[in-house]
Amino acid sequence: MASGSDGLLGGDLAEREWSLTGLAAAYAYPEPAPGSPQPWLRANMVSTLDGAAQHDGRSQPISTATDMRIFGTLRALADVVLVGAETVRQEGYRPARVRAEFAAAREAAGQAPAPAIAVVSAGLEFDYGLPLFTSPAVPTLILTGAAAAPDRVAAAEKAGAQVVIAGDGIGVDPVRAVQALAELGHTRLLTEGGPRLLGQLVAAGVLDELCLTISPMLTAGDAQRIAGGPSVAVPKRFELVSLLEEDGFLFGRYRRT
Ligand SMILES: NC(=O)c1ccc[n+]([C@@H]2O[C@H](COP(=O)([O-])OP(=O)(O)OC[C@H]3O[C@@H](n4cnc5c(N)ncnc54)[C@H](OP(=O)(O)O)[C@@H]3O)[C@@H](O)[C@H]2O)c1
Repeated sequence: MASGSDGLLGGDLAEREWSLTGLAAAYAYPEPAPGSPQPWLRANMVSTLDGAAQHDGRSQPISTATDMRIFGTLRALADVVLVGAETVRQEGYRPARVRAEFAAAREAAGQAPAPAIAVVSAGLEFDYGLPLFTSPAVPTLILTGAAAAPDRVAAAEKAGAQVVIAGDGIGVDPVRAVQALAELGHTRLLTEGGPRLLGQLVAAGVLDELCLTISPMLTAGDAQRIAGGPSVAVPKRFELVSLLEEDGFLFGRYRRT
């Protein structure tokens, strides 16, 4: 079943059996304005019915194969994937894959063969022996503040990461992070959280779109919600762009009004 409030997703998507081409068209980034493309930041997150963003410290137990298919499609459309360091550590993040199915479209869009992973970190404590640093298709970026420990910055660079300064202290300013990525030519931005990072992106007003999978599960407990940190003064209003359903999982796409 598929439906869309602005016609982006129609019944024919279901008939195309959730093909990668169908999903890629359905989730296409907005056409950039000629001459001065503005960054567009979308988040992709999964939540249970009772609001849990993870189970046993990972999102995989609340996900599903179709969710992962959309996850892969969203990556394939993005220039860069922005992610918090704790998600990298807990989920054992690997570099984004080069996928033959998307090679021609990425080349036509002027994109690298795979999106870069851009990790947000203040402490810069990583295992640089992991594939994210040893064998990415495109160099992994690390976004940090100007006051980050110089020896850790040096270690990151020695490991082949491109360190990008996007804050005056040790932390990253979300607005500067988006600007810095745009200055590197990355305007189709995707964030995969986690909740602590997403909360800051929401609060800073830089999130344009949320792709949210609602998993038909209840986990109780004290798991994080998809966005954490201090609450915003006034709730940010988003509108539903499209909604897909499969096997009880809802795949919503919301855009800020
Ligand atoms: N449901 C979902 O869709 C989903 C998606 C992603 C993750 N998750 C789950 O969420 C959990 C991890 O998320 P999390 O919220 O705890 O952590 P997170 O947001 O992934 O990462 C937090 C870390 O990011 C860095 N960071 C965040 N904001 C920063 C800033 N402004 N400046 C500099 N560094 C900053 C810090 O790294 P340093 O400590 O290195 O300084 C901080 O410790 C995992 O259990 C994961 O499975 C769920």
